[in-house]
Amino acid sequence: MKKIVIAGDHGALELKDTLVAFLKKKYFSVNDLGTFGSSSVDYPDMAKVACDEFNKGGYKFGILLCGTGIGISIAANKIKGIRCALVHNLFTAEMAKAHNNANFIAFGGRVRYDVPVTEMIEKFISTSYEAGRHEARIAKINALENNCS
Ligand code: RB5
Repeated sequence: MKKIVIAGDHGALELKDTLVAFLKKKYFSVNDLGTFGSSSVDYPDMAKVACDEFNKGGYKFGILLCGTGIGISIAANKIKGIRCALVHNLFTAEMAKAHNNANFIAFGGRVRYDVPVTEMIEKFISTSYEAGRHEARIAKINALENNCS
């Protein structure tokens, strides 16, 4: 069964519950790392716990959530090996996989989207990475992590 890791802060509790239920219905094994209550937590901590877990291996991709998706995606992108895309519609969901081969996608629990987040996730899942010309660009992103030019 394909594994997904998910985590978020208190700004996206309801969204996380919806997504976990949706993903389980789609036969994914979901590792929900919280947060589980309405107490305030810091989104960089939630990004770290999920990205560290992802980097252990065995996950298809990860999902990060906060009020806007912005803070947690910024934090995740500081972690080696992580390409977290802040997705906001079907087009960016598709491109996040096709061009960026993102290994995390982020959403905001306080954002009003024109399409349900579940549909954006389905689009991301059903899209293939195009590789080709994008390979060199992703290699350059990886080089930035190592402070190479
Ligand atoms: C928390 O109140 C909020 O700042 C956080 O969820 C997120 O929106 C940050 O980018």
